[in-house]
Amino acid sequence: MASVKLEKISKEFQLKDGAVLALNDVNGEIGDREFVSLIGPSGCGKSTVLRLIAGLVPPTNGEIRLHGLTPAAARSQRMYAFVFQDPVMFPWRTVIKNVEMPLEVVGGKTSKERADHAQALLKLVGLQGFEKAMPNQLSGGMKHRAAIARALMLEPPVLLMDEPFGALDEITRDRMNLELLRIWGATNAAVIFVTHSIEEAVFLSDRILVLSPRPGTIVADIPIDLPRPRTLLVKQSEQAFNYSTLVRKKLTEITIAAEIDQFGATPE
Ligand SMILES: Nc1ncnc2c1ncn2[C@@H]1O[C@H](COP(=O)(O)OP(=O)(O)O)[C@@H](O)[C@H]1O
Ligand SMILES: [Mg+2]
Repeated sequence: MASVKLEKISKEFQLKDGAVLALNDVNGEIGDREFVSLIGPSGCGKSTVLRLIAGLVPPTNGEIRLHGLTPAAARSQRMYAFVFQDPVMFPWRTVIKNVEMPLEVVGGKTSKERADHAQALLKLVGLQGFEKAMPNQLSGGMKHRAAIARALMLEPPVLLMDEPFGALDEITRDRMNLELLRIWGATNAAVIFVTHSIEEAVFLSDRILVLSPRPGTIVADIPIDLPRPRTLLVKQSEQAFNYSTLVRKKLTEITIAAEIDQFGATPE
């Protein structure tokens, strides 16, 4: 069964002075354990797609399923976790207490079980030794690691990531990309990853979905057939470069097409 299925999704936002059609006729399937990136120009509806899947906003039309469940049902069964660009940590709680939080909310485990699980996840994300640190003692990259550990606390089959490394410097981002792949390899989660970095999308993904400018629709579905495990050598390979060129071309094409559309006639 598909881990996430989008069928004929459209999303219109009502504003005071009219409506904005953010997404139009979005169709797609993400398989179990698949790593899929969503890429597209700013404002094309990438975040909206994730928020729809998470059930944070309802679609205007169409149907969304996570392992066959509606977003609301999937949400109540904690079938997904969301990782945002700015990791939100409770500043008065230690790192490990922040990571334990989702399980605390759900309940049903002893505090020892919670702590053990959080400890194992902190080890997985490379934060061993920082359990008792306070969030403000962590660097940007470390905060993201902690946020990923917390997102994995309930072992969600679907991980939704909205430009999680967008604010990091390039070197840290490269490292986080490698870490994310390693972590993903140790879980059973499907990942839907939003980014506006072509190279990042190519490096991480099994498949890239390219969205058109608003109203966003999927204009290309590009399988990335690079070997795994992905190393920095793979990232610098000619094959990866060619994929980046392909995605870049597609993005340029659709942006130009949208501009021509907007101004009416094609120039002579
Ligand atoms: N809550 C909202 N109310 C009104 N308009 C919204 C809302 N959320 C998003 N939009 C609009 O929908 C479009 C897509 O937004 P978004 O999904 O954030 O794009 P992206 O993440 O690709 O940059 C934008 O034009 C944005 O202004
Ligand atoms: Mg966004």
